[in-house]
Amino acid sequence: MTSEEKKSFEKLRQEILKCRKCPHLVDFRTQTVFGVGNPNADIMFVGEAPGADEDKQGEPFVGRAGQLLTKMIQAMGLERSDVYIANILKCRPNVDTPSGNRKPTPDEMQTCIPHLQEQIRLIRPSVLVALGDTAIKGLVPTLKEGITKVRGHWYEYQGIPLMPTFHPAYILRNPTMATKRLCWEDLLAAMEKAGKPISKKQRAFFTAAAS
Ligand code: URA
Repeated sequence: MTSEEKKSFEKLRQEILKCRKCPHLVDFRTQTVFGVGNPNADIMFVGEAPGADEDKQGEPFVGRAGQLLTKMIQAMGLERSDVYIANILKCRPNVDTPSGNRKPTPDEMQTCIPHLQEQIRLIRPSVLVALGDTAIKGLVPTLKEGITKVRGHWYEYQGIPLMPTFHPAYILRNPTMATKRLCWEDLLAAMEKAGKPISKKQRAFFTAAAS
């Protein structure tokens, strides 16, 4: 990132911090959740929206799903501080129950996505990984098929290769070797595309050969 881009990134962070475009979310949120990690990252993960933990802490993916994402990143031989992590929506979707979650509405996504678009433009990662159906549909709105069909296939966003995979929350709900392996294959493809080294041991994760 050039010093001009760094300034733009900080300006964007300030804008998002005080964003009031969705009054129903402003009233509900503790704070906006901008993103975290290395603004010069090669690999950028895009999730759906902050949950209760993220809203409280102001950081994406810090709850249960976030802890699994951190493990996935570490399995790739990286740390959270090596990659960049952001969401389609910067505010927690409002829900009736304090612990509940809901998917962002198309209107909310349309309003918020220019923020992410600008984040991606400034970070310019080599590879984007969309976590789950909402993330990939937010980035590629013309897609009709669900995440189970589109995962494992390359798409493009702003000319950047984009790999959709399962959301870690989905893996927590379906913790089979088969699901984990499919997700891992998507992450291996992302690592390869980003020019990251991959060991034999890493290639075999979640296969019979690894156990
Ligand atoms: N799920 C998401 O999609 N994003 C977060 O930040 C946390 C959970």
